[in-house]
Amino acid sequence: MRRLRRTQALRQLTAETKLSVDDLIAPLFVREGIISPEPIVSLPGVVQHTQESLKSEVAELISRGVKAVILFGVPQVKDPLGSAAFDPDGVVQIALRELRQNFGDDVVLMTDLCIDEYTDHGHCGVLTPQGQVDNDATLEIYNQAACAQATAGADIVAPSGMMDGQVAAIRSGLDAQGHSEIAILAYAAKYASGLYGPFRDAVKVELPAGQDRRAYQQDWRNVREALEEVRLDIAEGADMVMVKPAVTYLDVIYRVRQEVDLPLGAYHVSGEYSLIKAAAANGWIDETAVALEQLTAVKRAGADLILTYFAKDIAELLAG
Ligand code: PBG
Repeated sequence: MRRLRRTQALRQLTAETKLSVDDLIAPLFVREGIISPEPIVSLPGVVQHTQESLKSEVAELISRGVKAVILFGVPQVKDPLGSAAFDPDGVVQIALRELRQNFGDDVVLMTDLCIDEYTDHGHCGVLTPQGQVDNDATLEIYNQAACAQATAGADIVAPSGMMDGQVAAIRSGLDAQGHSEIAILAYAAKYASGLYGPFRDAVKVELPAGQDRRAYQQDWRNVREALEEVRLDIAEGADMVMVKPAVTYLDVIYRVRQEVDLPLGAYHVSGEYSLIKAAAANGWIDETAVALEQLTAVKRAGADLILTYFAKDIAELLAG
Protein backbone atom coordinates (compact mmCIF):
# COMPACT_ATOMS: atom_id res chain seq x y z
CA MET A 1 0.00 0.00 0.00
CA ARG A 2 2.90 2.40 0.56
CA ARG A 3 3.88 2.81 -3.14
CA LEU A 4 1.16 5.37 -3.75
CA ARG A 5 1.99 7.27 -0.55
CA ARG A 6 5.62 7.90 -1.51
CA THR A 7 5.44 11.49 -2.82
CA GLN A 8 3.11 14.43 -2.36
CA ALA A 9 2.22 14.29 -6.07
CA LEU A 10 1.26 10.62 -5.83
CA ARG A 11 -0.78 11.27 -2.72
CA GLN A 12 -2.55 14.16 -4.41
CA LEU A 13 -3.31 12.01 -7.44
CA THR A 14 -4.88 9.26 -5.36
CA ALA A 15 -6.69 11.31 -2.72
CA GLU A 16 -10.31 10.14 -2.48
CA THR A 17 -11.73 13.24 -0.85
CA LYS A 18 -10.91 16.77 -1.87
CA LEU A 19 -12.12 19.70 0.10
CA SER A 20 -12.80 22.69 -2.15
CA VAL A 21 -13.41 26.33 -1.48
CA ASP A 22 -16.75 25.82 -3.28
CA ASP A 23 -17.88 23.64 -0.36
CA LEU A 24 -17.48 26.35 2.25
CA ILE A 25 -20.09 28.64 3.79
CA ALA A 26 -18.89 31.34 6.19
CA PRO A 27 -21.07 32.16 9.22
CA LEU A 28 -21.01 35.92 9.91
CA PHE A 29 -22.38 37.97 12.81
CA VAL A 30 -23.72 41.47 12.34
CA ARG A 31 -24.54 43.59 15.37
CA GLU A 32 -26.76 46.62 15.63
CA GLY A 33 -25.58 49.79 17.33
CA ILE A 34 -21.79 49.34 17.37
CA ILE A 35 -19.33 51.59 15.61
CA SER A 36 -16.44 49.17 15.21
CA PRO A 37 -16.22 45.37 15.03
CA GLU A 38 -16.31 43.62 18.41
CA PRO A 39 -14.10 40.59 18.99
CA ILE A 40 -15.80 37.50 20.41
CA VAL A 41 -13.52 36.21 23.14
CA SER A 42 -14.63 32.59 22.96
CA LEU A 43 -14.39 32.56 19.13
CA PRO A 44 -10.88 33.86 18.50
CA GLY A 45 -10.56 35.50 15.08
CA VAL A 46 -14.34 35.92 14.66
CA VAL A 47 -16.05 39.28 15.31
CA GLN A 48 -19.46 40.87 15.56
CA HIS A 49 -19.50 43.06 12.47
CA THR A 50 -20.84 46.52 11.84
CA GLN A 51 -22.71 46.90 8.54
CA GLU A 52 -19.52 48.44 7.11
CA SER A 53 -17.09 45.79 8.31
CA LEU A 54 -19.51 43.09 7.16
CA LYS A 55 -19.23 44.40 3.62
CA SER A 56 -15.42 44.35 3.74
CA GLU A 57 -15.47 40.83 5.13
CA VAL A 58 -17.74 39.59 2.35
CA ALA A 59 -15.52 41.29 -0.24
CA GLU A 60 -12.50 39.55 1.28
CA LEU A 61 -14.26 36.18 1.32
CA ILE A 62 -15.28 36.55 -2.33
CA SER A 63 -11.70 37.44 -3.25
CA ARG A 64 -10.57 34.22 -1.60
CA GLY A 65 -13.20 32.21 -3.47
CA VAL A 66 -15.79 31.77 -0.69
CA LYS A 67 -19.08 32.61 -2.35
CA ALA A 68 -21.62 31.76 0.32
CA VAL A 69 -22.27 33.29 3.72
CA ILE A 70 -24.87 32.73 6.43
CA LEU A 71 -25.88 35.75 8.50
CA PHE A 72 -26.73 35.93 12.20
CA GLY A 73 -28.03 39.14 13.75
CA VAL A 74 -27.38 40.66 17.15
CA PRO A 75 -30.16 43.22 17.73
CA GLN A 76 -30.01 46.11 20.15
CA VAL A 77 -33.42 45.36 21.60
CA LYS A 78 -34.76 41.90 22.43
CA ASP A 79 -38.40 41.20 23.29
CA PRO A 80 -40.62 38.17 24.01
CA LEU A 81 -41.59 37.73 20.34
CA GLY A 82 -38.18 38.32 18.81
CA SER A 83 -39.66 41.19 16.76
CA ALA A 84 -36.32 42.30 15.33
CA ALA A 85 -36.21 39.00 13.44
CA PHE A 86 -39.07 40.11 11.21
CA ASP A 87 -38.71 43.89 11.33
CA PRO A 88 -37.95 45.09 7.75
CA ASP A 89 -35.30 47.29 9.34
CA GLY A 90 -33.91 44.58 11.61
CA VAL A 91 -30.14 44.25 11.57
CA VAL A 92 -30.02 41.21 9.26
CA GLN A 93 -32.55 42.66 6.84
CA ILE A 94 -30.44 45.81 6.51
CA ALA A 95 -27.33 43.68 5.98
CA LEU A 96 -29.06 41.64 3.26
CA ARG A 97 -30.10 44.74 1.35
CA GLU A 98 -26.61 46.24 1.55
CA LEU A 99 -24.80 43.05 0.60
CA ARG A 100 -27.13 42.40 -2.32
CA GLN A 101 -26.67 45.95 -3.52
CA ASN A 102 -22.87 45.72 -3.28
CA PHE A 103 -22.23 42.21 -4.53
CA GLY A 104 -25.24 41.36 -6.71
CA ASP A 105 -25.38 37.64 -7.42
CA ASP A 106 -21.65 37.09 -6.83
CA VAL A 107 -22.48 35.84 -3.37
CA VAL A 108 -25.06 33.39 -2.05
CA LEU A 109 -26.79 35.08 0.88
CA MET A 110 -28.15 32.70 3.45
CA THR A 111 -29.86 33.55 6.70
CA ASP A 112 -30.26 31.65 9.92
CA LEU A 113 -34.00 31.64 10.49
CA CYS A 114 -34.63 31.48 14.20
CA ILE A 115 -35.53 33.88 16.97
CA ASP A 116 -33.20 33.01 19.84
CA GLU A 117 -30.92 35.93 19.00
CA TYR A 118 -33.95 38.22 19.19
CA THR A 119 -35.96 37.01 22.19
CA ASP A 120 -35.37 38.38 25.68
CA HIS A 121 -35.81 34.84 27.13
CA GLY A 122 -33.32 33.30 24.68
CA HIS A 123 -35.51 30.44 23.45
CA CYS A 124 -35.89 29.61 19.77
CA GLY A 125 -39.65 30.05 19.95
CA VAL A 126 -42.31 32.14 21.63
CA LEU A 127 -43.52 30.99 25.04
CA THR A 128 -46.92 29.98 26.39
CA PRO A 129 -48.04 31.70 29.60
CA GLN A 130 -46.64 28.62 31.40
CA GLY A 131 -43.23 29.22 29.84
CA GLN A 132 -43.20 26.32 27.35
CA VAL A 133 -42.06 26.91 23.77
CA ASP A 134 -45.28 27.17 21.73
CA ASN A 135 -44.66 25.24 18.50
CA ASP A 136 -47.46 26.57 16.32
CA ALA A 137 -47.36 30.17 17.49
CA THR A 138 -43.65 30.09 16.70
CA LEU A 139 -44.32 28.94 13.13
CA GLU A 140 -46.27 32.17 12.57
CA ILE A 141 -43.25 34.21 13.65
CA TYR A 142 -40.84 32.14 11.53
CA ASN A 143 -43.09 32.80 8.57
CA GLN A 144 -42.86 36.53 9.06
CA ALA A 145 -39.09 36.35 9.51
CA ALA A 146 -38.72 34.24 6.34
CA CYS A 147 -40.69 36.78 4.31
CA ALA A 148 -38.71 39.70 5.77
CA GLN A 149 -35.42 37.95 4.90
CA ALA A 150 -36.62 37.03 1.39
CA THR A 151 -37.83 40.56 0.71
CA ALA A 152 -34.49 41.95 1.89
CA GLY A 153 -32.52 39.74 -0.49
CA ALA A 154 -31.82 36.28 0.97
CA ASP A 155 -31.29 33.48 -1.56
CA ILE A 156 -31.69 30.75 1.00
CA VAL A 157 -33.35 30.76 4.42
CA ALA A 158 -32.18 28.22 6.97
CA PRO A 159 -34.68 27.42 9.73
CA SER A 160 -32.73 26.28 12.80
CA GLY A 161 -35.30 26.30 15.59
CA MET A 162 -36.34 22.61 15.40
CA MET A 163 -40.07 23.36 15.62
CA ASP A 164 -42.24 20.62 14.11
CA GLY A 165 -43.66 21.61 10.74
CA GLN A 166 -41.35 24.61 10.31
CA VAL A 167 -40.27 23.79 6.76
CA ALA A 168 -43.83 23.31 5.50
CA ALA A 169 -44.98 26.50 7.21
CA ILE A 170 -42.13 28.57 5.80
CA ARG A 171 -42.49 27.09 2.31
CA SER A 172 -46.16 27.93 2.12
CA GLY A 173 -45.61 31.34 3.69
CA LEU A 174 -42.88 32.22 1.19
CA ASP A 175 -44.93 30.96 -1.76
CA ALA A 176 -47.98 32.91 -0.65
CA GLN A 177 -45.93 36.10 -0.52
CA GLY A 178 -44.45 35.65 -4.01
CA HIS A 179 -41.09 34.25 -2.85
CA SER A 180 -41.33 30.86 -4.48
CA GLU A 181 -37.77 31.17 -5.85
CA ILE A 182 -36.26 31.33 -2.34
CA ALA A 183 -34.73 28.02 -1.24
CA ILE A 184 -34.85 26.39 2.19
CA LEU A 185 -31.84 24.81 3.86
CA ALA A 186 -33.31 22.86 6.75
CA TYR A 187 -31.26 22.41 9.89
CA ALA A 188 -32.93 19.01 9.78
CA ALA A 189 -30.94 17.10 12.38
CA LYS A 190 -29.83 19.56 15.01
CA TYR A 191 -28.71 18.18 18.32
CA ALA A 192 -28.95 19.72 21.79
CA SER A 193 -25.18 19.99 21.83
CA GLY A 194 -22.80 21.38 24.41
CA LEU A 195 -20.76 22.73 21.51
CA TYR A 196 -22.84 25.87 20.88
CA GLY A 197 -21.43 27.76 23.89
CA PRO A 198 -19.19 30.23 22.03
CA PHE A 199 -21.98 30.98 19.53
CA ARG A 200 -24.23 32.02 22.40
CA ASP A 201 -21.54 34.50 23.45
CA ALA A 202 -21.40 35.72 19.86
CA VAL A 203 -25.12 36.50 19.75
CA LYS A 204 -25.45 37.37 23.44
CA VAL A 205 -28.01 34.69 24.20
CA GLU A 206 -28.41 33.42 27.71
CA LEU A 207 -31.18 31.07 28.75
CA PRO A 208 -32.62 31.52 32.24
CA ALA A 209 -30.74 29.43 34.82
CA GLY A 210 -31.58 25.76 34.67
CA GLN A 211 -33.23 25.94 31.23
CA ASP A 212 -32.04 24.31 28.04
CA ARG A 213 -33.22 23.44 24.53
CA ARG A 214 -33.75 19.73 24.98
CA ALA A 215 -37.51 20.01 24.48
CA TYR A 216 -36.91 20.93 20.83
CA GLN A 217 -33.34 20.08 19.81
CA GLN A 218 -32.44 16.42 19.43
CA ASP A 219 -31.12 14.02 22.02
CA TRP A 220 -27.55 13.11 21.06
CA ARG A 221 -28.10 9.47 21.88
CA ASN A 222 -30.31 9.10 18.78
CA VAL A 223 -29.58 8.58 15.12
CA ARG A 224 -32.76 6.99 13.73
CA GLU A 225 -34.64 10.01 15.04
CA ALA A 226 -32.36 12.21 12.91
CA LEU A 227 -33.28 10.25 9.80
CA GLU A 228 -36.97 10.80 10.58
CA GLU A 229 -36.34 14.54 11.00
CA VAL A 230 -34.59 14.61 7.63
CA ARG A 231 -37.39 12.66 5.90
CA LEU A 232 -40.01 14.99 7.34
CA ASP A 233 -38.15 18.12 6.27
CA ILE A 234 -37.72 16.81 2.74
CA ALA A 235 -41.41 15.86 2.57
CA GLU A 236 -42.23 19.39 3.77
CA GLY A 237 -40.23 20.93 0.92
CA ALA A 238 -36.62 21.40 2.05
CA ASP A 239 -34.24 22.05 -0.86
CA MET A 240 -31.19 21.08 1.18
CA VAL A 241 -30.75 19.46 4.56
CA MET A 242 -28.12 19.83 7.25
CA VAL A 243 -26.66 17.96 10.19
CA LYS A 244 -25.33 19.93 13.16
CA PRO A 245 -22.81 19.78 14.81
CA ALA A 246 -20.45 18.00 12.41
CA VAL A 247 -17.50 16.08 13.81
CA THR A 248 -19.33 14.45 16.72
CA TYR A 249 -22.07 13.39 14.27
CA LEU A 250 -20.14 11.90 11.34
CA ASP A 251 -22.24 8.75 11.61
CA VAL A 252 -25.40 10.84 11.21
CA ILE A 253 -23.95 12.59 8.17
CA TYR A 254 -23.02 9.22 6.71
CA ARG A 255 -26.46 7.73 7.33
CA VAL A 256 -28.25 10.75 5.85
CA ARG A 257 -25.98 10.61 2.79
CA GLN A 258 -26.92 6.98 2.18
CA GLU A 259 -30.58 7.95 2.06
CA VAL A 260 -30.72 11.41 0.59
CA ASP A 261 -29.65 12.81 -2.77
CA LEU A 262 -30.41 16.45 -2.07
CA PRO A 263 -27.44 18.68 -1.20
CA LEU A 264 -26.32 17.85 2.33
CA GLY A 265 -24.75 20.41 4.63
CA ALA A 266 -22.94 20.04 7.93
CA TYR A 267 -22.28 22.78 10.47
CA HIS A 268 -18.84 22.70 12.05
CA VAL A 269 -20.06 24.70 15.03
CA SER A 270 -18.55 27.30 17.31
CA GLY A 271 -17.38 24.83 19.97
CA GLU A 272 -15.71 22.65 17.34
CA TYR A 273 -13.82 25.71 16.12
CA SER A 274 -12.93 26.99 19.59
CA LEU A 275 -11.62 23.62 20.77
CA ILE A 276 -9.10 23.65 17.94
CA LYS A 277 -8.23 27.33 18.50
CA ALA A 278 -7.69 26.85 22.22
CA ALA A 279 -5.51 23.76 21.87
CA ALA A 280 -3.50 25.46 19.12
CA ALA A 281 -3.05 28.59 21.25
CA ASN A 282 -1.47 26.36 23.88
CA GLY A 283 0.87 24.91 21.27
CA TRP A 284 -0.71 21.48 21.71
CA ILE A 285 -1.90 20.94 18.14
CA ASP A 286 -1.31 22.45 14.70
CA GLU A 287 -4.42 24.55 14.05
CA THR A 288 -4.45 24.37 10.27
CA ALA A 289 -3.63 20.69 10.10
CA VAL A 290 -6.41 19.77 12.52
CA ALA A 291 -8.93 22.12 10.88
CA LEU A 292 -8.23 20.58 7.47
CA GLU A 293 -8.38 17.07 8.89
CA GLN A 294 -11.76 17.69 10.55
CA LEU A 295 -13.37 19.50 7.64
CA THR A 296 -12.16 16.85 5.20
CA ALA A 297 -13.58 14.15 7.48
CA VAL A 298 -16.95 15.89 7.36
CA LYS A 299 -16.82 15.81 3.57
CA ARG A 300 -15.59 12.19 3.55
CA ALA A 301 -18.59 11.24 5.70
CA GLY A 302 -20.85 12.60 2.96
CA ALA A 303 -21.44 16.32 3.37
CA ASP A 304 -21.44 18.47 0.22
CA LEU A 305 -21.36 21.79 2.04
CA ILE A 306 -19.71 22.83 5.28
CA LEU A 307 -20.54 25.84 7.39
CA THR A 308 -17.32 26.74 9.18
CA TYR A 309 -15.69 29.62 11.01
CA PHE A 310 -12.44 28.46 9.38
CA ALA A 311 -13.78 29.34 5.91
CA LYS A 312 -11.64 32.43 5.36
CA ASP A 313 -8.36 30.91 6.57
CA ILE A 314 -8.86 27.54 4.94
CA ALA A 315 -9.88 29.11 1.61
CA GLU A 316 -6.47 30.65 1.25
CA LEU A 317 -4.87 27.30 1.89
CA LEU A 318 -7.12 25.40 -0.52
CA ALA A 319 -6.45 27.95 -3.23
CA GLY A 320 -2.70 27.94 -2.65
C1 PBG B 1 -30.02 29.03 16.53
C2 PBG B 1 -28.63 28.62 16.18
C3 PBG B 1 -27.62 28.22 17.06
C4 PBG B 1 -26.50 27.96 16.27
C5 PBG B 1 -26.85 28.20 14.97
N1 PBG B 1 -28.18 28.59 14.92
C6 PBG B 1 -27.60 28.17 18.54
C7 PBG B 1 -28.41 27.24 19.29
O1 PBG B 1 -29.15 26.42 18.76
O2 PBG B 1 -28.34 27.34 20.51
C8 PBG B 1 -25.16 27.50 16.80
C9 PBG B 1 -24.02 27.62 15.85
C10 PBG B 1 -22.68 27.43 16.45
O3 PBG B 1 -22.51 26.99 17.61
O4 PBG B 1 -21.72 27.74 15.74
N2 PBG B 1 -30.30 30.32 16.06
